[in-house]
Amino acid sequence: MKQYLVMLIIPAVFAWNDFDPYTDPRYDMQHLLDMDLCPPGNDSLCLLRVREVAYKYRHVNEKVDADCEHDKELPNVPRVCWIRHRKHFGFPNFQTRTIWEMQCWLDTTVKPKPKTKCRAIQIDYS
Ligand SMILES: *[C@@H]1O[C@H](CO)[C@@H](O)[C@H](O)[C@H]1NC(C)=O
Repeated sequence: MKQYLVMLIIPAVFAWNDFDPYTDPRYDMQHLLDMDLCPPGNDSLCLLRVREVAYKYRHVNEKVDADCEHDKELPNVPRVCWIRHRKHFGFPNFQTRTIWEMQCWLDTTVKPKPKTKCRAIQIDYS
């Protein structure tokens, strides 16, 4: 009889960290500033360009998903560009978990000119 050890994967407490896309050298985002990354009906900037930024920053070949989504934590933003780096855990790949996320959006409440805001989060599982 075969027995499998099933590990319970529980995320540690985590929080978003804001970073400044205008000055943060870890992200090469100058070409994406001051624009709506998720305008109605056109997700291509998020799906292509922002995902490129995430790939470069993460140095990965694994799947990095990009998506234009509403985040209820940001009620004034119709849709944020949401990047998720997922990883398989357990043998043989029981579960897929998001280990890192990034969000960028145009904050139109900043006057006189809207500004690009970004935040990221590292999710460790124990
Ligand atoms: C969508 O946005 C991209 C980047 O701004 C632009 O190049 C492209 O022409 C747009 N596509 C449509 C269908 O508007």
